[in-house]
Amino acid sequence: MSVVTSEKQGEVAVIRMNNPPVNALGHALRVGLEKAFNEASADAGVKAIVLTGTGKFFSAGADITEFKGEMKAPFLPELIDHIEQSAKPVVAAVNGTALGGGLELALGCHYRVAGADVKQLGLPEIKLGIIPGAGGTQRLPRAIGPEQALQLITTGTFIDAKKGAAAGLIDKVADGDVVAAAIEFAKGQVGKPVRRIGEVKIDKAALPAGLFEKARGSTARHPSGPIAPKCAIDAVEAAVTLPLAEGNAKERALFREAAASPYARALQYAFFAERQAANLPGIGADTKLRDVKSLGVLGAGTMGTGITLAFLNAGFPVTIVETTQEALDKGVARIKDTLAQNAKRGRITEAQAQQRFAALTPSLKMEDFADKDLVIEAVFENMALKKEIFTKLDKIAKSGAILASNTSTLDVNEIADVTKRPQDVVGLHFFSPANIMRLLEIVRAEKTGADVMATSMAIAKKIGKVGVQAGVCDGFVGNRMLASYGNEVQAMNLEGAMPQEIDGALEAWGMAMGPLAVSDLAGLDVGYRIRKERKLTGEAAQFARVPDKIVEMGRLGQKTSAGYYKYDENRKRMVDPEIEALIKAEAEALQIKQRHIPADEIVERCLLRLANEGAKILEEGIALRSSDCDVMYMNGYGFPAWRGGPMWQADNMGLKVVAEKIKAYEAKYGPRWKCARLIEKLAAEGSSFADYDRKKK
Ligand code: 3HC
Ligand code: NAI
Repeated sequence: MSVVTSEKQGEVAVIRMNNPPVNALGHALRVGLEKAFNEASADAGVKAIVLTGTGKFFSAGADITEFKGEMKAPFLPELIDHIEQSAKPVVAAVNGTALGGGLELALGCHYRVAGADVKQLGLPEIKLGIIPGAGGTQRLPRAIGPEQALQLITTGTFIDAKKGAAAGLIDKVADGDVVAAAIEFAKGQVGKPVRRIGEVKIDKAALPAGLFEKARGSTARHPSGPIAPKCAIDAVEAAVTLPLAEGNAKERALFREAAASPYARALQYAFFAERQAANLPGIGADTKLRDVKSLGVLGAGTMGTGITLAFLNAGFPVTIVETTQEALDKGVARIKDTLAQNAKRGRITEAQAQQRFAALTPSLKMEDFADKDLVIEAVFENMALKKEIFTKLDKIAKSGAILASNTSTLDVNEIADVTKRPQDVVGLHFFSPANIMRLLEIVRAEKTGADVMATSMAIAKKIGKVGVQAGVCDGFVGNRMLASYGNEVQAMNLEGAMPQEIDGALEAWGMAMGPLAVSDLAGLDVGYRIRKERKLTGEAAQFARVPDKIVEMGRLGQKTSAGYYKYDENRKRMVDPEIEALIKAEAEALQIKQRHIPADEIVERCLLRLANEGAKILEEGIALRSSDCDVMYMNGYGFPAWRGGPMWQADNMGLKVVAEKIKAYEAKYGPRWKCARLIEKLAAEGSSFADYDRKKK
C-alpha cells in the first residue's frame, strides 16, 4: 500500500499519510505528499484539502534515520511552504501525535482540527540536539506567541489538543471523527481568503522585556548541551524580527549549526540506543506476555515507597507490606506526602493524588500477595533475609506470578534457587528515587523465563522507565561500572585532587552531579557497610581510608550536614578544609606524593575507567550491547545524554587511542588499569563498540 493515499469526499480531497510505525516524514512520504498536493491543487473539482495521518499518529516528524546521510528532494521545508501557499484552504485533521516536522506540517496548513484525545503536540527536536528545521521556529511563535513558543521549543515538551486550542495552535477540537470534522471545517472555508500563519506579523512591543536575553541566560546546564538551546532561541527571535522567508533561511542555518555538533549526534544515538535496549535477543514479538495488573511491594523503606509511587503513578493498584505497623505507617505517610507535594507543585491534580493514594493497600501480611501478578521485594540488602522471603513468597504467590528482587548487589541466581519456580524470578533494580529515576536494570538470572523478561521490559515502558537487561555479577552493569569509576576518584583524591576539583571538573563537563557530591547525597554509610563486610586488602583498602575515616568522624553526607563537604541549612555544599587536611594526611601516611591534577585528566580517567569496565562487562556477556551500558549511564547515573555515555565517548575517541591511553595509565598505576581484552581486540581490528553491537544483532 502506498504511504500516501488520496480520495475525494465531494469537493474535499482527503490526503492520508500511512507510513508505520509513526508516520515519519521520510523520502517516500514526502514524494507521496508532494504528488497528492499537486494533484489536488490542479483538480478543479477540489475546493479544499484535508491532510491527516493514520492510527495514533498524524506524524512524529522527520525520519531521524535520514539525518546520517544526504537528504533527497523534495525537502520538508519547501513542501510545507508550498502547502501554505495553496490558494485552496488546507486543513490538518490532527488525528494523533504531531511532533517535530509533523507539527510543522500541520502549521503549514491553514487550519488545524485535532481529535480530543490527542496528547502529543510539540517540537521535541531539542531533545535530539537540533532545532525545528521546517519552519517550526517561525510559524509556532506566530501561532501561539513567542513566549509560549520559546518555552515549547527550548524544552521539547508536549501539549494536548485542549491546551493547543487554548494556546491558539488548534482551531477546533473534535470529539468524534476528526477527519469528518475537518472536512466540515474545510467546507466552511471554501470561497474565503485562506489564513497563512507565515504572514502573521508579531507585535514586538507586546513582548515581555528581555524575553530572549533571559532565555539565553538560563541555558547554562541545558539537558541538550551548549549549542541547540542557543540556536533555538536565536531562531525564535528571528520570527519576531524577520519576515517568514528570511526567518526560515536563518532557521535553516541554525538547524545546520546544531545538527553538525557532536552533541546532536550523541543525542540521536541516545534516542536509538534507548529503543534498541528494549529488543531482547531470542525474545520475539510473538512471546506471550504475562498479564500484570496488580502489584505487591515488600518493604516500605526508601526503595519500597519509591517503587510503589512509580506504579501508583502509572495507574496500578499496589499492596505494600511491612514487618511493623510503625514502619508501614512511616512508608505510607511518605507516599501520601509525595503525592500531595506533586499536586501542590501542579504536576498532578488534587483528584489524581487522591485517586492514586486510594489505589494503595497497606498491610502487615505477606499472605495478601496471594493474588498479585507481580511482587517486588525491597527489604534490607541481606542474602539470608532475601532467601527467607523468597521461600515464603514461593508458598504464597499464585502460579504465574512474577517474583522480583530490587537487590542492588546480591546474586539473583541464588535467590531464585530457593524457590520451586526460578523461571518466575527476576531482578528489578530500580534507582533511587525510584519514582523519578528513569532507569530500570532488569537482571536476567540463569533460569529467568523469556516471557518474564519480555513482561518486565513491557512493564518498564508502562511505568515510564527505560528497561535495560543485565546479567548476574557483583553490581550488575551499572554499579559495577560505578565501582571502578569510584575507585579512580578515590585514587585521584589521594593523588591531590580535592573533592571540589573532582566534582567541579565532571560537573563542568556535563555530569548532573560529581561523584563525591552524589555519595554525600546517597549517604556515605551505605558504602562503608559494604566495604567493612568485604574486608578489603591492598590498593582497595588504601582507597577506602579517606571515605572510611569520613564516616568514622560521624559525617554521613547530607543527612548529617557533613560528608566530603559541609552543608548549610539549604543543603548548599561548601568546601571543608578539615576534609582537605584529612586527604593530605592520608596521602602522606601512604607516601603518595600529591600534585595538581588538571580537569581534563580527571574527566579522562573517569571516562576511561568506566569504558574499560563496560568493555569487560560486555566481554563477559553481562551486558548485551555497549549502547545498553550508555543507556544505563544516561538514565540512572546523571551522565549527560548530550555526551552520549562512556562507551560512545570511547568510540569517538577511537578505540586505538583509548587502548594506548589505558596502557599508559596501566604502566603508571598498575593492574587496576588493565586494559579489557575486548578493547585491545577491537582496537587492533580498527573497529569500535558500535561495530561490535551491530555484529551481535
Ligand atoms: N524517525 C524515525 N524513526 C522513528 C521516529 C522518527 N522521527 N520516531 C519514532 N521512530 C521509530 C522508533 O525508533 C521505533 O523504532 P523501533 O520499533 O524499530 O525501535 C518506532 O518508531 C516506535 O517508536 P517508539 O518505540 O518510541 O514508540 P512510542 O509510541 O513509545 O513513542 C514517539 C512514539 C513519541 C513518537 C517517540 O517515538 C518519539 O518521541 N519520536 C521522536 C519524535 C521526534 O523527535 N520528532 C522530531 C524529529 S526531528 C524533525 O522533525 C526535524 C524537523 O524539524 C525538520
Ligand atoms: P531501607 O532500609 O530504606 O528499607 C528496607 C525496608 O524493608 C525497611 O522499612 C524494613 O522495615 C523493611 N523490611 C525488612 N525486612 C522485612 C520483611 N521481612 N518484610 C517486610 N519488610 C521488611 O532500604 P532501601 O534503601 O529501601 O533498600 C531496599 C533494597 O533496595 C535493598 O536490597 C537495596 O540494596 C536495594 N536498593 C537500594 C537503593 C538505594 O539507593 N537505597 C538503590 C537500589 C536498590
